Amino acid sequence: MISKEILANATAFVQKELGGDYSGHDFWHAKRVADIARRIALAESADPDICELVAILHDIPDDKRGLTEEEGMSKLRAWLMQTGMETSIVEFILGIISTMSFRGGNNPPMSTLEGKVVQDADRLDAIGAIGIARVFAYSGHIGQKIYDPEIKARHQMSKQEYRAGQSTAVNHFHEKLFKLEPLMNTETAKKIARKRQKFMEDYLQQFMKEWNLED
Ligand code: ADP
Ligand code: NI
Repeated sequence: MISKEILANATAFVQKELGGDYSGHDFWHAKRVADIARRIALAESADPDICELVAILHDIPDDKRGLTEEEGMSKLRAWLMQTGMETSIVEFILGIISTMSFRGGNNPPMSTLEGKVVQDADRLDAIGAIGIARVFAYSGHIGQKIYDPEIKARHQMSKQEYRAGQSTAVNHFHEKLFKLEPLMNTETAKKIARKRQKFMEDYLQQFMKEWNLED
């Protein structure tokens, strides 16, 4: 249904659009998510080409890149339409991308298997060793501290609070990253997430030991 040529063109489009991003939404994030989405799709009997395509494109409409979400979605829709793919597939892809983001954890569950796979793939890239690197990179990007014992972690946030309120990189582990493992949709992702979760817990434990002069 989706040709290798469309997949290659999508990769080139994303490279052009996200290539200069240093906030953790860079091209290589999209590429990692696409690669792991394909792997999960094969293990879960989802459509691997759709999953790979959705995954590589998923951050084009991100509201952290200067465009509004609507502008990003139109740009993405225009790109998808010029590939010549059927409108029903274009709508299927846009449907997943417009609903998959975390944004404080208030979104309803994904309704399609391909949506579940790509959401898992994106969430896996936010945890583990790479997830740790991305939290600190993003924190530097927005001018947020690595840690401050006087700033407490927030729970139950609206989308605005999640984006705007003051926090720290270490708090982000509690506000988001540690919440992701139980939210994984597929068994394949759950297995990978368990290992990455443990790695992050060990990392923060060590961080706190060093902070408190216990090590
Ligand atoms: P989502 O769109 O699913 O909410 P984001 O786009 O917000 O995810 O996150 C992109 C990357 O930046 C992730 O690795 C995430 O952990 C990190 N990140 C997002 N918000 C913050 C924050 N407030 N502090 C530190 N890191 C963040
Ligand atoms: Ni992403």
